[in-house]
Amino acid sequence: MQFHATRSSVASQRTACAVVGVYEKRQLSAAAGTLDEKCGGLIRRVVRRGDFDGKSGSVLPIADLPGANAERALLVGLGPRAAFGRKAYRKAVAAATEWLSKSGARDAVFYLALEPIPDVDTYYAARFAAETVQSTLYRIPALKSGRKPPSPKLSKVGVAVSDRGELAPARRGLAHGEAIAAGMALTRDLGNLPANVCTPSYLASRARQMARDHKAVRAKIMNEADIKRLKMGAFLSVTRGSEQPPRLIVIEYRGGKPGEAPVALVGKGITFDSGGLSLKPADAQVGMKTDMSGAAVVAAVMGSLADRVPAGIQVTGLLCMAENLPGASATRPGDVVTHHGGLTSEVVNTDAEGRLVLGDGLDFAVRDLAADVVVDIATLTGAATLGLGRRYAALFSNSDVLAQALRDAGEAAGEQMWRMPLHDGYAELISSDVADQANAGRGRGLSPGSITAALFLQRFVSGTAWAHLDIAGPGRSDAERDDLPKGGTGFGARALLRWIEAGAPA
Ligand code: BES
Ligand code: ZN
Ligand code: MN
Repeated sequence: MQFHATRSSVASQRTACAVVGVYEKRQLSAAAGTLDEKCGGLIRRVVRRGDFDGKSGSVLPIADLPGANAERALLVGLGPRAAFGRKAYRKAVAAATEWLSKSGARDAVFYLALEPIPDVDTYYAARFAAETVQSTLYRIPALKSGRKPPSPKLSKVGVAVSDRGELAPARRGLAHGEAIAAGMALTRDLGNLPANVCTPSYLASRARQMARDHKAVRAKIMNEADIKRLKMGAFLSVTRGSEQPPRLIVIEYRGGKPGEAPVALVGKGITFDSGGLSLKPADAQVGMKTDMSGAAVVAAVMGSLADRVPAGIQVTGLLCMAENLPGASATRPGDVVTHHGGLTSEVVNTDAEGRLVLGDGLDFAVRDLAADVVVDIATLTGAATLGLGRRYAALFSNSDVLAQALRDAGEAAGEQMWRMPLHDGYAELISSDVADQANAGRGRGLSPGSITAALFLQRFVSGTAWAHLDIAGPGRSDAERDDLPKGGTGFGARALLRWIEAGAPA
């Protein structure tokens, strides 16, 4: 897709489709009004007749407007004027794109950013537009034989701005939006690809490719021997039952001063989670190819930074990649493993594998990288889904500033988080007679599974500002809904990027 910013008026612009907004209660946006005058009141007549009510996300195409240079106009609903904001704007862009993708239009100009949007300047309006157009056009990579479905004709999208001075910020916004969308597409691809394709080594090759394509990042791939050398005994215990070799992928973005302590992002990258010897029932295994979504989000953030979105800080992404299968040498329930840094864990349940790899990753980030802030992201517990569903990530943090900054970034990016308590009183649920801690909480039904998992992770950060995002709910979706795409969603990438752009406050 080619994006461009334009100052031209809807009254004169030649385009296959002019996208103009209409609010509820028959209120035309400025651009819709201009176009209406140009074509003798046609739009007003259509709206007055009751053919278009301006409901958020609704669309109505009008072909061959008399007197206009646009081949068609697409009216798109902006909802009630008083409530128009970020969310309705994104929804309008998505709805228009959806319609355009099925039409014969090869190009379009969006006039939606001309409306005042609270808390959104031209830069962000353009950024959201590029991001939303691209993610609406995203298709799950299908490994089907036979002919591919035809791809949309749409190949050029313009975003109209009001005056000359807005062109530069709009262009910057479009470039950044594209970089973010590319990152999102990468995460979603990784989540949607089956586990026999998307293995730890496959991710390593994608990371290597990223580093080859972009000077701003470096990738270091650690193999099984390296991971052993790093004494990540818990990480290795997860992969023992699988033939797929594990990988610890380190991606470094150097936007800050050399030697400056980095921000570390740690992602859970279980390419398939069968549960191990504590095997999941068949139905619960379906979809567990997405158990690497946390790592995929970290890859996306690093990719967007590497591609065009600049940040003036050092950021290191750690992807803990392994497969959890019940092979002959698989870890047994009751085994005790030693983490990087020396803490020991009793593996009471091999299905609580995410925290085992993350514990090693977090300790590495704090001890070896001397990170001054660490955020981990993981499809960690079914309990998070039970509690918060698919629209909120569970957020845990030992820093109020960090928690608030992440929530704000999530709110702005359309990725919501809900803060959960890290109450010490629950720590006894993961005590062990034989090790420093157990990897799962006692008393399943009464045990707050997401909280005990977070308490487990907290032991590895020793006071460093840290947050944990459990995306088991919003990381993937079974059904297509207005704001959650089907399959891997890429949830978390935009929020983390925004937080990093803000300087990673903690
Ligand atoms: N990957 C799962 C969590 C999960 C479940 C993600 C459902 C998405 C949807 C994780 O490794 C897991 O199995 N967690 C267990 C922990 C338990 C054994 C303490 C769980 O949530 O049941
Ligand atoms: Zn898992
Ligand atoms: Mn599991």
